[in-house]
Amino acid sequence: MSVERTFSIVKPDAVAAGQAGEILAHIEKAGFRIVALKMMRLTEAQARGFYAVHRERPFFNGLVKFMTEGPIIVMALECEDAVKGLREVMGATNPANAAEGTIRKRFAQNIERNCIHGSDAPETAETELRFFFSTAELL
Ligand code: RTP
Ligand code: MG
Repeated sequence: MSVERTFSIVKPDAVAAGQAGEILAHIEKAGFRIVALKMMRLTEAQARGFYAVHRERPFFNGLVKFMTEGPIIVMALECEDAVKGLREVMGATNPANAAEGTIRKRFAQNIERNCIHGSDAPETAETELRFFFSTAELL
């Protein structure tokens, strides 16, 4: 294990529901340092680009609509083994399958409106951090 960075989004459902603060507190209590953070609203082009890996999936258009429906909070997070660690703290994609005490178990509504994104691999984290943050913001 070594100190690494991952990328995360508090999704529009959680921001709109006023759960952003509790989700950030959950992440910090789990041992992550917030390296960079900003609130923004994705354009359709940004959402399509960010989730391009899913463009052939049946849920893609719904996912783009959801991710652009309101403001989000994008974050760079750091700790030992951050990519895998955040995925564990988030819980399963479908909150019905998420373990007790995970963020998605606590806050997600369903498999689509699931409150948080986390990079799925170190290479993905690097690409996603570059998508949203400049070098200066990540110092
Ligand atoms: P994320 O990328 O947002 O961290 O979520 P994930 O890795 O747990 O799940 P992924 O398979 O990458 O799916 C990306 C997002 O698409 C929506 N989704 N909807 N309706 C569906 O069956 C379905 N499946 C996925 C969710 O918002 C999911 O987080
Ligand atoms: Mg994913």
